[in-house]
Amino acid sequence: MITGQFPTTRLRRNRVDAWTRRMVAETSLSVDHLIWPIFVRDGGGEPTPVSTMPGVTRVGLDRLAAHVEEAVRLGIPAIALFPATPPGLKNEAGSEALNPENLICQAARLLKREFPDLGLVGDVALDPYTDHGHDGVLRDGYVANDESVAILTRQAVNQAMAGIDIIAPSDMMDGRVGAIRAALDEAGEIHTRIMSYAAKYASSFYGPFREALGSNAALKGDKKTYQMNPANSDEALREVAMDLAEGADMVMVKPGMPYLDIVRRVHDEFRVPVFAYQVSGEYAMLAHAMQHGLLDRERGIIETLMGFRRAGASGVLSYFAVEAARILRG
Ligand code: PBG
Repeated sequence: MITGQFPTTRLRRNRVDAWTRRMVAETSLSVDHLIWPIFVRDGGGEPTPVSTMPGVTRVGLDRLAAHVEEAVRLGIPAIALFPATPPGLKNEAGSEALNPENLICQAARLLKREFPDLGLVGDVALDPYTDHGHDGVLRDGYVANDESVAILTRQAVNQAMAGIDIIAPSDMMDGRVGAIRAALDEAGEIHTRIMSYAAKYASSFYGPFREALGSNAALKGDKKTYQMNPANSDEALREVAMDLAEGADMVMVKPGMPYLDIVRRVHDEFRVPVFAYQVSGEYAMLAHAMQHGLLDRERGIIETLMGFRRAGASGVLSYFAVEAARILRG
């Protein structure tokens, strides 16, 4: 490490004015680094607010194009779609996930028609569709791995056929990336990318998301037998290594802010595109503090997103994406 000594070296010299600070900045943040997650619901009319996430709504298909239009205009490269499935369509096996007319497939077709250059990320997991709220099927109270993977591969193909560009398996079953890659190739979907939620932790920060999708009331127990233990870090590298070996094009770390050390390790170890998900609980925490005047909104948004970039993330999934893009576009 080359270092200097005071007073010949004064590190504050490089902070003395805005143009110098810009010139020596080590990290950049632009709209290219943003992915916007949105909640799609059944029925039409005004988008319904998600009470736990101030500023976030669930939107029906009739308003979807209007909802997304600003994000496209601002240059956000991709959005991630999540369905609020009507309770009547949920069952033990999550079979609505395989319906070519489900909310996600309809949304994907509509958006591809309206905005052919907007990237679409589709979450693959069964929790929005099961009446027990788990990401796979239950056998004797345990989420059965291989049986769930067999369904998830079909869910992935169903989404790809509808126009989803990036399949994002968030279920944490073992072997699902390889199985999904094989199924996509088999279906001729060789360009459909896989962004695996490789290091996804059993976190308390998903609460508001589950409320938004209505999967919270349904969830029996917790997800600790498939999502990672927050105490673990080396294990995240094994998860990433296996997903890459199975054909993942990009990987994700989730949640974001409490796991920046994992983002850094994955980036340093693998040098592959790694994304971080600033999840619903992080959004809620920040948005509520901002609402109460405890945090400056613009600076808070940019600082947290910059933190992900500084940790080595290629990009961030954030409910602040559109607001951040407005700020970044000045
Ligand atoms: C579904 C899924 C979850 C999130 C993304 N995909 C919830 C969960 O695993 O329970 C959470 C996203 C957020 O909290 O913003 N498997």
